Amino acid sequence: MRAFVLGFVAATILIPAAAVTYVRLGFVDPRADIPVSAIEQRIAMPSLDASVERRAPRGAFDRDASDTALVAGMKTYEAHCASCHGDGARPDAALATALYPRPPQFVREAPDMPAHENFYIIKHGIRMSGMPAWGHVLSDREMRELTAFLSHMDRLPAPVDSDWKAGVARSR
Ligand code: HEC
Repeated sequence: MRAFVLGFVAATILIPAAAVTYVRLGFVDPRADIPVSAIEQRIAMPSLDASVERRAPRGAFDRDASDTALVAGMKTYEAHCASCHGDGARPDAALATALYPRPPQFVREAPDMPAHENFYIIKHGIRMSGMPAWGHVLSDREMRELTAFLSHMDRLPAPVDSDWKAGVARSR
């Protein structure tokens, strides 16, 4: 019984207190350019996916994928997203390894989440990461065009794809 009480005290008080002390006393490394930890990869990333899946309202996005919308999405992407996520002409972005967690490089790894989840992330951002809430900057139409562009990035219609690969819409 005594061992049980001691174990209970340890689990409910000492372990959380030690964790808070560890964080509060500055043992967590604040640098963004260190290797991404196993905890980040095994716990934080799946938890983000589950959380977005739970929250993102479903919507119909496929009908937005006209060539005009894809070209508009590509232009917005080049202006606001390529510096972190890469583009057709420069698949590895300048900031690819400069943020923690790392921004996915979409040309190397096409965004595979459903469109309504991509839209939700674009609009609301991801806290404690470099991903901004673009709903504060872009209109819903621009974010829908971006969403369509992301879903079609690895299978763009020929004229859009050649502009994308040549970096025609790049702002830099
Ligand atoms: C300053 C850097 C930065 C910019 C600019 C940026 N992002 Fe991100 N983005 C990130 C980071 C970092 C993550 C990963 C966050 C994480 O895993 O917790 C991310 C994640 C995402 C995701 C989720 C991808 C996945 O598979 O989990 C999407 C979608 C996304 N960004 C779209 C965009 C779009 C569209 C734009 C432009 C409007 C943009 N981002 C601009 C840094 C950026």
